[in-house]
Amino acid sequence: MLRVENLKVAYGHIEVLKGINFNVEAAEIVALIGSNGAGKTTTLNTISGLLRPTSGVISWKGENINRTPVEAIVASGLAHCPEGRRIFPGLTVRENLLSGTAARPNNRKAIEEDMTLVFDLFPRLKERIKQLGWSLSGGEQQMLAIGRALMSRPSLLMLDEPSLGLAPIVIDQLFDRIVELNKRTQLAVFLVEQNSAMALEIANRAFVIETGTITLSGPASELAGNPRIQEAYLGG
Ligand SMILES: Nc1ncnc2c1ncn2[C@@H]1O[C@H](COP(=O)(O)OP(=O)(O)OP(=O)(O)O)[C@@H](O)[C@H]1O
Ligand SMILES: [Mg+2]
Repeated sequence: MLRVENLKVAYGHIEVLKGINFNVEAAEIVALIGSNGAGKTTTLNTISGLLRPTSGVISWKGENINRTPVEAIVASGLAHCPEGRRIFPGLTVRENLLSGTAARPNNRKAIEEDMTLVFDLFPRLKERIKQLGWSLSGGEQQMLAIGRALMSRPSLLMLDEPSLGLAPIVIDQLFDRIVELNKRTQLAVFLVEQNSAMALEIANRAFVIETGTITLSGPASELAGNPRIQEAYLGG
């Protein structure tokens, strides 16, 4: 469904993605793990069209989207839940969710139905529907950011460090929801995480990125058992 081939990305003359290759297929959960500055966020930002590659191909549902406008990428079913959540602090929960529908046809009934699905997944958001974004807890903000991305009706959801800053119990709940969503709707998930243990637990496959190069890939269970991964990313 998503195929990235020899992707290179630079900031000015500094190359931070040095020709990476990977794919994500329908209904899969694929994790991208790596340490600070490895190029994880750059990878997601380039796929979603916020950054443009210097070379390589991003192919989505069989089409090259290297130069496709961001809105058209979202409309074609590729959603990005960015690092740091980026919800609108001055908008209510409902308004934040509606902001996720900008790229889809304005069908009120379908939009209300999808909002109901988001509330089924995150009942806490329903209880806080009129509350302003800034006043939500960190975990609630993360739920809202994911809910907003879901409102675009994606077939692939890219999540950039959803666990960042959350307590372990909240991370557990959030990851349970992500797995539930994947199982129930066949939604494919591309998960960027520094919490490698959690990511490898829920993913089918995983990749390791080190300074802009993919150095390891394979079934998540295999990577979790790899001594090199255990030492570098799983705390020994
Ligand atoms: N706008 C920018 N201008 C210049 N350099 C940048 C820019 N954004 C990122 N970089 C650099 O590119 C490299 C990769 O950054 P990126 O944000 O993709 O890393 P990351 O793997 O997401 O890290 P983290 O786990 O800390 O979020 C880093 O060295 C970073 O300093
Ligand atoms: Mg990042």
